[in-house]
Amino acid sequence: MENTQRSVIVTGGGSGIGRAVARAFAERGDRVLVVGRTPPALAETAAGHSGVHTCAVDLTEPSAPEAVAKAADEAMGGVDVLVNNAAVGGFGGLAELERARVEAQVATNLVAPVLLTQALLGPLENASGLIVNVGSAGALGLRSWPGNAVYGATKAGLDLLTRSWAVELGPRGIRVVGVAPGVIETGAGVRAGMTEEAYAGFLAGMAPQVPLRRVGQPEDIAWWIVRLADPQAGYASGAVLAVDGGLSVT
Ligand SMILES: NC(=O)c1ccc[n+]([C@@H]2O[C@H](COP(=O)([O-])OP(=O)(O)OC[C@H]3O[C@@H](n4cnc5c(N)ncnc54)[C@H](OP(=O)(O)O)[C@@H]3O)[C@@H](O)[C@H]2O)c1
Repeated sequence: MENTQRSVIVTGGGSGIGRAVARAFAERGDRVLVVGRTPPALAETAAGHSGVHTCAVDLTEPSAPEAVAKAADEAMGGVDVLVNNAAVGGFGGLAELERARVEAQVATNLVAPVLLTQALLGPLENASGLIVNVGSAGALGLRSWPGNAVYGATKAGLDLLTRSWAVELGPRGIRVVGVAPGVIETGAGVRAGMTEEAYAGFLAGMAPQVPLRRVGQPEDIAWWIVRLADPQAGYASGAVLAVDGGLSVT
């Protein structure tokens, strides 16, 4: 991948980390396609960034991989970087889990990136491209995550995909890396069902537990994802990078 203008797909680009990633790539002159279900949110990401194109698609739909591949081809003529960032959360102990929420998490966080990545293998191989899977520092290594275990299982699964695809796709010139955010202030807790007050309380309660004594901002993650796409980062593959202020090693 040359250090020229690149073509980047960011799933979940209408909010939070995905929006910051999309804008960070756009600000360095790259073409970006943001994917999500909510057209106004995608449009807000693109506002003021002429290189950002939008693709309103539900990634859990069977037609989504082909639709995104077509949109990327039309808008950008190729794919150098795929950021699998879209995800849904959902808290609850085993006894409280509802089938629909469990299935939504597995479908969005695990099945959708598998099938989207599969659909983009051709353009990624043509570009000697990069796949970035956005996991979670809470699911790294041998950690447990009671109360958030289904979400954590999807993220641990994504990390295994990162390692496996790095081995499988490396000979085809495609790099695969994971980025595992810690607690990042994106509003995602509210989208996962918490009240505004509960989410603010959660962030305030987490900050003193982080070695760097603050929760992260979406730009803290975006900076790393853009750097991992630099040609100078071209020997990194198969690794999952925790960007969490040190929380996962406490
Ligand atoms: N925030 C944190 O503290 C934190 C910590 C660890 C890891 N992460 C990970 O970081 C990533 C981004 O998180 P975030 O905090 O920025 O969350 P977010 O703001 O809720 O972003 C998730 C995005 O995914 C999109 N999305 C969800 N389901 C979709 C579907 N079926 N089809 C297409 N798009 C879909 C959402 O857009 P629509 O609803 O409009 O479709 C949304 O823009 C996620 O993978 C998350 O698991 C976040």
